[in-house]
Amino acid sequence: MSISGTKTKKRILSGVQPTGNLHMGTYIGALMQWRANQVDYESLFCVVDLHALTVPEAVDPEVLRRNSREISALYIACGIDPEISNIFVQSDVHEHAELSWILGCVTPLGWLYRMTQFKTKSDKRDSVGSGLLTYPVLQAADIVLYEADQVPVGQDQKQHIEIAREIAQRFNHLFGDLLTIPEPMIPKMGAKVMGLDDPSRKMSKSIGMEVKGHSIGLLDPPKVARKAIMRAVTDSGNDIRFDHASPGVLNLLTLYEVLTDESRESIEARFSGKGYGHLKKDVADVVIATLEPIQARFTELMNEPGYLDGILDKGAERARSIAAPVLTAVKQAVGLGR
Ligand code: AMP
Ligand code: TRP
Repeated sequence: MSISGTKTKKRILSGVQPTGNLHMGTYIGALMQWRANQVDYESLFCVVDLHALTVPEAVDPEVLRRNSREISALYIACGIDPEISNIFVQSDVHEHAELSWILGCVTPLGWLYRMTQFKTKSDKRDSVGSGLLTYPVLQAADIVLYEADQVPVGQDQKQHIEIAREIAQRFNHLFGDLLTIPEPMIPKMGAKVMGLDDPSRKMSKSIGMEVKGHSIGLLDPPKVARKAIMRAVTDSGNDIRFDHASPGVLNLLTLYEVLTDESRESIEARFSGKGYGHLKKDVADVVIATLEPIQARFTELMNEPGYLDGILDKGAERARSIAAPVLTAVKQAVGLGR
C-alpha cells in the first residue's frame, strides 16, 4: 500500500553525492541503470548534497552549490530524461533531514559502526563529524520517503541499502507497517569498475582527485581519457579472454562489454591474438564515443541555467508532494504532531 497515494508503477530512487566529478564507475554502476529503468519504473534521481556535507573539509560552499548544478546537468546529459524522471536536489526537500532524525532514533549505534564506508572514511582522520556515522540513516530516509521499491546502485552501496532495509523493518516493527522495504538493484556487469592504475581498488572520486590515470572522469577531455586507458595496468601476458583475464584486463574487457553491449564471444574473437595495446586502443575509442555526446549536452545545459532551474524547481515540488504525506504518516505513528 502506498501512503503517498501517488504510486502509478513500482518506484526507483537513487542519488549521487555532488563531490567532484563523476567517473566511468558512476556512469556504469549507477547512471546507465537509471537510464535503462526510467521507463519501466517511476523514477526519482536525487543529488544528495546533504550527504556531501559529511566531509566538510572537502567542500567549499560555492563549490558545493556549483557541483550540485553540474551533477544535475550530468544526469540529464547521461540520458536521464527530465520529462519522465524526477530530478531534484536533496536539500530542496526538507523532509529528508526531518525523517532522518526520526529514523536515527530507532537505529542502534552498533549497526552504524559496522559500516565499511564509515570505517574506511573515519580511519584516515583524527576527528570526524557525527554525520559521517549517521550517513546511512539519511540515506535510508532518502529511500523510504519515496516508498521506493528498488534502489539502483553499484556494488559498494549494497551494505547501505541493507541497513536501510533493516532500519525500515525496525521502524515498522515498533510503529506499525508503514514503510516500504527497498531492494538493491545492482547491475550484472560493471557493478564495480576498478581503478585503471590499480585494478585491486574500485574506481573512486577521491582517489581520482589525487592520482592521475586512476579514473576516467565524465568531463575529462578525450585526450586525457585516452592517455589514462593506454597506461592502464594489465599484466605481462597477452591472453584476452574473460575467464582467464587478470583484474586489469578484465576491467578493460568489462568496460568494452558494457559500453558496446557486444557478446563475450564476439569480443574475444575480435581481440584474439591482438595484444593489450590493441584492446586498450579500442576501449579508448568506445569510451570517448560515450563521453563526447555527454560532454556536448552538458555544455549546452550549463549555458541554459534557466532551463536547469526549471527542472530542479519542478523536481523538488513533485518530490515534496510524495515525501510530505509519508513524513506526516511517520510523525503521526511516532506521536509527533497533533
Ligand atoms: P558516488 O560517486 O560514490 O556518490 O557513487 C554514486 C553511485 O555510483 C553509487 O550508486 C555507487 O555505487 C556507484 N559507483 C561509484 N563508483 C563505482 C565504481 N567504481 N563501479 C561501479 N559503481 C560505482
Ligand atoms: N551513499 C550513496 C553513494 O555514495 C549516495 C546516496 C545517498 C544514495 N542517498 C541515496 C544512493 C539513496 C541511493 C539511494 O553513492
